[in-house]
Amino acid sequence: MNCIEIENVSKKYGKVLALNNISFKIQCGDKYALLGPNGAGKSTTLKILAGLLKPDQGKVSILVYPPDSIEARKLIGYLPEDASPYRVLSVRENLEYIGALRGVEDLHERVEFLLDIFELREYEKAKVSSLSRGNRQKLALALALIHHPKIIIFDEPLNYLDIPMQEKVINILNSLNLTALISTHIMSVALRLTKRVIMISRGRLLWQGSIEELKKMGEEHEQIESIVARIMNNDFKTN
Ligand SMILES: Nc1ncnc2c1ncn2[C@@H]1O[C@H](COP(=O)(O)OP(=O)(O)OP(=O)(O)O)[C@@H](O)[C@H]1O
Ligand SMILES: [Mg+2]
Repeated sequence: MNCIEIENVSKKYGKVLALNNISFKIQCGDKYALLGPNGAGKSTTLKILAGLLKPDQGKVSILVYPPDSIEARKLIGYLPEDASPYRVLSVRENLEYIGALRGVEDLHERVEFLLDIFELREYEKAKVSSLSRGNRQKLALALALIHHPKIIIFDEPLNYLDIPMQEKVINILNSLNLTALISTHIMSVALRLTKRVIMISRGRLLWQGSIEELKKMGEEHEQIESIVARIMNNDFKTN
């Protein structure tokens, strides 16, 4: 069963072709890192999967639902690349407000739980506008998880987090039984969060497979970053 399916999707911003007939599928339960050079179309792909952008052409399904349907929105937890919770609300108010909008049944316990695991309790009354960038990111992660999503679509989730918090978030995400597509530029993050990789470049699928297969494509003892860079660079040389 596929939880994410994207088929022949193209998307232009004005004259810029951000996605060029891209297709891939993700089976339910699999966790993928989405890799690609700057401007490859990662954030555009994730926004389309989250139902925030409409493709110009092609088909997108979340399980069997269109991404902008209520069913898909219940399934998906989306973390945008520059997540900004409501600035005039406090940390707690953001969690309670978004949780209520989403109809979270165990809202009270959920808010307490998220305040604890993301170490936000000391800031619960602080307005988002007064938070550091890292604490804002922790709140954005908590908001993306508040409704117990089954599929997470996270754009560079560890941005701005200090090292202990990065470890904590990796452990939190690994403890959840999720289908995941997570964009990152940091291979060590990809290796710890996922077992598989989707690589895109210039709006097209470059490679999809397991990290084990990816390692086999390199020389002995070659760093995984070097293998990834080679695949991405070859795309620029050969096309
Ligand atoms: N709102 C927009 N208006 C115009 N062009 C855009 C817009 N958003 C993205 N683009 C362009 O679309 C292409 C893909 O952008 P996208 O943000 O999806 O890349 P990305 O892979 O997420 O890059 P990065 O690694 O830098 O985050 C780029 O050429 C970018 O300049
Ligand atoms: Mg991006």
